[in-house]
Order: sequence, then C-alpha cells, then structure tokens
Amino acid sequence: MKIIIKKTYEELSKAAADIIKEAITKKPNIVLGLATGSTPIGCYQELIKMHKEGLDFSKVTTFNLDEYLGLAADHPQSYNYFMYENLFNYININHKDIYIPGGTTKNVEESSKEYEKKIKEVGGIDLQLLGIGSDGHIGFNEPGTPLDSRTQLVKLAESTIQDNSRFFKKREDVPKFAITMGIQTIFEAKKILLLASGENKAEVISKALEGPITPQITASILQKHPDTIVILDTAAASKLKKQYQL
Ligand code: F6R
Repeated sequence: MKIIIKKTYEELSKAAADIIKEAITKKPNIVLGLATGSTPIGCYQELIKMHKEGLDFSKVTTFNLDEYLGLAADHPQSYNYFMYENLFNYININHKDIYIPGGTTKNVEESSKEYEKKIKEVGGIDLQLLGIGSDGHIGFNEPGTPLDSRTQLVKLAESTIQDNSRFFKKREDVPKFAITMGIQTIFEAKKILLLASGENKAEVISKALEGPITPQITASILQKHPDTIVILDTAAASKLKKQYQL
C-alpha cells in the first residue's frame, strides 16, 4: 500500500485525477471502477477540466460500485443520476460503455451475476476508485461482509443510513438495501485508488490501514492488495500512528 498525504481536499482531488489521467493516457481503452459519494466529486471535477483540455474518454469503460435498491436511474438521489450529473454528462464517454447496477432491476441475483460476467468479459477492472464509509465499508460492503463476497444485494448499516441521510429530505427516505460489487470483486481490480478526506474519516482510516485485516472493517483487506494507492488529506490522516511524508 502506498500512502500519499495532501494538505487539502483540492490537492487530494488533483492527485487522484492525475493518476487516473496517466492511466487513461497509457491505456485509452481502460476499464475504470468508479465510486459515488462526496469524496470523489473533486476528482471528477478535475477530470472534467482535463477532458476540456483534451483527455479522451471515448474508449473508456466504467463500472460503478453500487446503487440503492428501489431508486430508478432518474431519481435525483440514485447513484446513476449522480454519475451523469457529476461526470458522464461532461466527458466524451460512450454511454453504452457505462455500467451501473440497476436499482429497479427485477431479478437482483441474476443481474448481479450479469454484472460480474460483464466485468470479466471486458478483461477486469484496471483501476478502481474508492471512498470509505465511516464504518470502514468499501462499496456498500458493511461490517461483517465475508471478504470473498461478490456483487450482491446488501442491507445497509444504520450508520451508513445515518451518514447518507444528508442527501435525502428525511432519514426515512434513505433506502435500506443496495446492490454492491463484492469485496472480492473490488480486490480483483488491478490497481486501487482509495480516497479519504476530513476528520470524520480519521478514526476509520487508522483502523483500515494500520489495524488488523478483518471483515469488521472491510477496507482493511486492501492492506493485502498488491497495488493500492491511498490518498488522504491531513485531516483524514491525523490518527495514523506511523509518520508519513507530505
Ligand atoms: C459510493 C460507495 C461508498 C462511499 C462511502 C464514502 O459509491 O461505494 O463506499 O465511497 O460511503 O462516502 P462519502 O465519500 O460520501 O463519505
């Protein structure tokens, strides 16, 4: 695991976008795994700027980590909607090469299998972008999820529902279930880029990066991944015990 610490969220976002840009430049038909939530928004804004300056997404394929069960793609709080609003509408990706779990799919088991199959068909994920939940989740793999899990339907932890209620009018509006890539699905990405910003992530970051590898903090599995880069701002890094250079 390589850990990079930046002073601010803006610098963290730029550093993440630079890594993605370099990867796309090296392999124009790259397969990217993408995340939603607050953390990657700055990185997506940088990528949009880079696109305006010539970065080409026309051969890129993307797979998103997750989607709320029950939210249609045009629901403003759905992750489908989020991705178009925050990235896809502003870059030249072919919409047929965008894969996001469907929140209103009728047969979740079947479509989860299809999702895994599709990832394999395109040769696997080259670079997976991740955020981390305050309970240590990656994707929506909540504490206790077996580390060999694959894309599936999951129940959201109460802490996640609470955290994500900031995006909804009422806490009761937050869906209780989601479809998420599994931990094993994520782990199979050739390269992983985990971002965390802010003091509210400091505790979980210290557990995930310096604590034991455990299904109770699903992000801790990344300690075993052969090519993971973690980019933190100083606030998110503030509870790490080891010293890292800025
Ligand atoms: C989002 C996802 C989640 C988030 C995590 C952190 O697609 O899979 O794991 O990355 O909940 O969310 P933020 O960035 O909003 O703190």
